[in-house]
Amino acid sequence: MSGRFITVEGIEGVGKSTNVRWLAERLRVRGIDVLVTREPGGTPLAERLRDVLLHAEEAVPPVAELLLMFAARAVHLENQIRPALAAGRWVVCDRFTDATRAYQGGGRGEAGERIEQLAEWVHGDLTPARTVLLDAPVDVALARTRDRGSEDRFERESLAFFGRVRAAYLAIAAREPSRVVTIDATAPLTQVQSRLDQILDEILSKSS
Ligand code: TMP
Repeated sequence: MSGRFITVEGIEGVGKSTNVRWLAERLRVRGIDVLVTREPGGTPLAERLRDVLLHAEEAVPPVAELLLMFAARAVHLENQIRPALAAGRWVVCDRFTDATRAYQGGGRGEAGERIEQLAEWVHGDLTPARTVLLDAPVDVALARTRDRGSEDRFERESLAFFGRVRAAYLAIAAREPSRVVTIDATAPLTQVQSRLDQILDEILSKSS
């Protein structure tokens, strides 16, 4: 059932939201019923955890950040993602466990082994069929977010932090080339979207 589960990843400012909407729209025009969702969040309770994670009023120890990410994910999986997949729907999710590997692992320095144990515990049976990694140099990507107004806990992080996050994402893509497709997010949008169309064609030809 994970054949219909697609995730989109990347640091802030690479155009995730636009391309998540595009992917969903392209599936819908093919007559496919798709749930578009995001992490952290995607259900009322998980959205409350998102608010805590993005706007906490006190310091959040890295271990608490890691556990809250997985707590939100467990809620989202049980109450939203699994029921949708079980009903035969497709799911396009803006971020999933690769974001934890990249931000809490690469960015905060939490041990990869611990993250994998939590991933196994929370969703050992479920891995995205395809993950689109939108990649851009940190300075280019962040320049796009800095005009968006008030920043959350992650957006206030340093260039060095996002450099580690990006490197961790690229390492995942190098490790899992059959799942993770990297797209150059600095390319013109039409080029990015025609690559997304090709990816959908490949997934659909495999699942039919
Ligand atoms: P978004 O604004 O791109 O939706 O993501 C919210 C922030 O949460 C973003 O800065 C990345 C961060 N995040 C993590 O640190 N770990 C995770 O597992 C997820 C899903 C998001």
